[in-house]
Amino acid sequence: MPDGQNGAQRNKTEDDITTEVLARFSATPDPRLRQIMLSLINHLHAFVKEVQLTEAEWFQAIEILTEAGKMCSDKRQEFILFSDTLGVSMVVDLLDHRKPDGATESTVFGPFHRLGAPDMPMGGNIAHRDQTGTPAVVSGRVLDLDGKPIANALLDVWQTQSNGLYDSQDQNLDGLHMRGRFRSDAEGRYLIRTVLPVNYPIPSDGPVGHMLKATGRHPWRPAHIHFVVSADAYEPVTTHIFDRTDPYLQSDAVFAVKDSLICDFARHEEPEGEAERLGITGPFYTTEFDFQLTPASSAQATVMDAQQRLAALGARA
Ligand code: BEZ
Ligand code: FE
Repeated sequence: MPDGQNGAQRNKTEDDITTEVLARFSATPDPRLRQIMLSLINHLHAFVKEVQLTEAEWFQAIEILTEAGKMCSDKRQEFILFSDTLGVSMVVDLLDHRKPDGATESTVFGPFHRLGAPDMPMGGNIAHRDQTGTPAVVSGRVLDLDGKPIANALLDVWQTQSNGLYDSQDQNLDGLHMRGRFRSDAEGRYLIRTVLPVNYPIPSDGPVGHMLKATGRHPWRPAHIHFVVSADAYEPVTTHIFDRTDPYLQSDAVFAVKDSLICDFARHEEPEGEAERLGITGPFYTTEFDFQLTPASSAQATVMDAQQRLAALGARA
């Protein structure tokens, strides 16, 4: 008999509706999907009842989601911004990426990774078109949990320019900038030339920006550099390194700061050693950060690398 045609008494109260909706989903064959759908309905209905949602508010929510959908493109992902600013991305990160002691912690992926970043040699400069930033050299090693080097690990790196914009946001720029794919050497070492990262506001010209404004929140993220570090037989880690001096470390708009990811950027007035070899002139900064990867295990099969995440969103290079 079709749903709702079984002669049962018509629904009378809001709780009757919840009961019937739950019953309708209860035959979901996939047990995980069943668990998720039943819990989602329970929480969603409870939320609507708790706040006594009005029809006008419900319709406003539909409009907000519609506007978010219309804003999405290969350069803009408003739903990731919602997930990040509501703290959902970090709750998922903490639940799904529990790591053994010593392993590099993960944090949000964010909406600004792009495919097609160039392969760069040791010391390659991802900021070659940045005219205003202070040069910075980021170095360290990729290690396993015993501290042994991992050779040929891939470090996929991206960052804003010193004007606080990602390449995809900058109207005055064509193509990719502030992005590179580096490999660790036989001792696990990597070396990246860039500019000192700056703090910047997340995009605020859409529904997420309206939400932040209406709720009295600021849109700023502390200065950071993004990494996805991967190697054969290890779990990839999606993470950032943060500048310890940044005033927004305590109030990151997307809740992504973890203590273990905070670095000291040391200022040097005169280039010397490695910096001189890299052609740096004038003052510059250095920081060191070692990444420690966990061995791959089937239990962690849900860890997605950057390519998989973007493929899921239909992104193009
Ligand atoms: C970012 O760091 O690129 C980012 C992360 C989450 C939301 C917006 C931007
Ligand atoms: Fe960022």
